[in-house]
Amino acid sequence: MEPLTLTGAIIGILAAIAGIIAAIVQVREYREKRREKPEGPGKEDQPLTPPGVPQIPHNLPPRSEFIGRESEKARVHEALRSRSYLVSIDGIGGIGKTSLALEVAHECLRASKREGPADGIAAFNGIIWTTAKDRDLTLNALLDTIARTLEYPGIAQQPLEEKRLAVRKLLQAKPYLLIVDNFETITDDSVRDFLIELPEPSKTLLTTREQKLRQVRAISLKGLTESEALALIRNEGKRLGLASLEHAEGWVLLHLYQATGGTPLAIKWAVGQIKQKGQSLDTVLASLHEARGSIFDSIFTRSWALLSASARQVLIVTPIFATSASREGIEATSDVHHFVLDEALGQLVEMSLVDATDELDLTRRRYSIHPLTRAFATSKVRQEPEGYRAAQQRLAGFYQSFTKEHGGFWYRNGLARLEPELPNILATVQWCRREHLSRMGLDILHNVLGFILIHGYWADVLGIYPPTEFVVHQVGEMGYSLSSSERSILERACEVAVSLYENRTRRSGDPYVSHAIAVGLITAAVLKGEQKDARIVAAALTHDVNYVVGPDTLAQVGRVLGSEVQTLVKEASKLGESIEEQELGHILRSFSMGAILIRLADRLHNMQTMRFTPRHKWQRLVEETENLYIPLARQADHPDIVKELERITREARQCLLTAA
Ligand SMILES: Nc1ncnc2c1ncn2[C@@H]1O[C@H](COP(=O)(O)OP(=O)(O)OP(=O)(O)O)[C@@H](O)[C@H]1O
Ligand SMILES: [Mg+2]
Repeated sequence: MEPLTLTGAIIGILAAIAGIIAAIVQVREYREKRREKPEGPGKEDQPLTPPGVPQIPHNLPPRSEFIGRESEKARVHEALRSRSYLVSIDGIGGIGKTSLALEVAHECLRASKREGPADGIAAFNGIIWTTAKDRDLTLNALLDTIARTLEYPGIAQQPLEEKRLAVRKLLQAKPYLLIVDNFETITDDSVRDFLIELPEPSKTLLTTREQKLRQVRAISLKGLTESEALALIRNEGKRLGLASLEHAEGWVLLHLYQATGGTPLAIKWAVGQIKQKGQSLDTVLASLHEARGSIFDSIFTRSWALLSASARQVLIVTPIFATSASREGIEATSDVHHFVLDEALGQLVEMSLVDATDELDLTRRRYSIHPLTRAFATSKVRQEPEGYRAAQQRLAGFYQSFTKEHGGFWYRNGLARLEPELPNILATVQWCRREHLSRMGLDILHNVLGFILIHGYWADVLGIYPPTEFVVHQVGEMGYSLSSSERSILERACEVAVSLYENRTRRSGDPYVSHAIAVGLITAAVLKGEQKDARIVAAALTHDVNYVVGPDTLAQVGRVLGSEVQTLVKEASKLGESIEEQELGHILRSFSMGAILIRLADRLHNMQTMRFTPRHKWQRLVEETENLYIPLARQADHPDIVKELERITREARQCLLTAA
């Protein structure tokens, strides 16, 4: 060995020893501190808002421009202050139910925070917005949204019946306002039963196209009044740069009001038509007067006729998206590009067929459609099943490369790009599965694994793919060349995990088995080269049996998965129970690499989902992680885990500091 290399090696060894000593000292100091520190809620329990300003938890979407409806607003407020616990806003599609409910809810929020007028407006301790607009709303999802919005994530962990009772109790304790948008589309009868039995002092505000409940205080929406309709027409004229409409005399606009019956969406569609080439108020009015049957049918048919070919091509693909879409997603799906796409989207927004958020940065702008537009566009799509399939396939291809670029297993800032797309991505994966393009769907999921580990969506993922198929594919994608016996051990481990954790949920509301799968996948992702051993992954998948189910099941694991897996599970449990008492060096010497890794993977996933843990436990979790787990991960040479744990503890410390 060259003298220089020898010196380098000695320095390296000394540095490593110094590292271990430093880590041991750090662990010791931490233990000392823990002994001195009394348990109990700390500063982290204090609210973020200045004293005197009530903190009102809510999840309301932002309000948009709202005109008139003063008397209806007053009636809804009055109903919310009365003894009625169920209030509904009903009326035909597009009449403005959602807009009114949102406006009322924002006024209640301002009054509750004492930021706005409180006269005649009920104050609440929290406001929850739920909607069945894009997907069916189940009782479970409704209860989870209530629990999470009101910052009781622990409730979401419970089985459905207990969860129902816990949420009931919560809503009985203080006045909360629950809004259920598009109630008419809910098919889960237990939602209706839950709402009917909802206890005072909380209130529910429904919007519905059909009046289905008898126990409810109903406010029926009709068209806007003449002056409100004229204000909306002028406002739309201004938005579209139609000075002739913006400044028109009332009598000129009166016909438009009469022809649309004052229905806001019909007014917006009709004004959008006037803006089109060759159109005027008269041409649009003439066609409205010829309208037979539903006004929306005829306005939509006419709007469709006025659209450019590329705008049609764009509109027809919008229902493929489960939620709002990005420009690049629409571009890929519609196959309309560059300035032609901008023109098409411009025309659709102008005609109020598509709504756009007002971000200046085009890449961040999101496009969405009203339920009525969705219904019409879907009927057009159905006329061309082949075109629809091709568009879906293009979208799947788009998400395959989008998720490859912006996803990954380990957290990077880029994961943020996935967030608004996730419902669309999952709908696409579901389509892939239905169309026997399973591999494509699984590949897309592989790219978003890092996001799912942190943000959940497990119920959706495991609803599309059975856990066994999902896990075996993902592990295979991580560079494991699985022999048939390794494959079978993984399959059996998944089956054991599924059967052991059946009917259990985590605090996040995700099925419990998701944690087992997450720990299995983290373990699989970290193992490198020679270490890639399916038995370690199988042990990670069943690592919690002792703790969650009981020691008898460990023997069962041994019978089904073999003695090596059983020993590893046992070792990992033992390490978990005694990690605080053991010296770092001792852990490294006496526990196998697999057991240590499983413990680290378990801690990592618990930290990734820490936001569902009550705030007063954070301080302890963060300290333990910084003082025990990060040094252990560093010494065991798992840099990805170190980086991820450091990121999470740093962010958690910032949160705790802001709250202090
Ligand atoms: N008072 C208002 N002022 C301004 N715009 C309004 C008003 N009411 C409704 N709109 C607009 O009209 C359109 C339809 O309204 P909204 O979505 O509230 O109807 P809806 O009755 O909830 O329909 P659906 O039954 O299909 O859910 C939206 O674009 C909304 O912004
Ligand atoms: Mg609505």
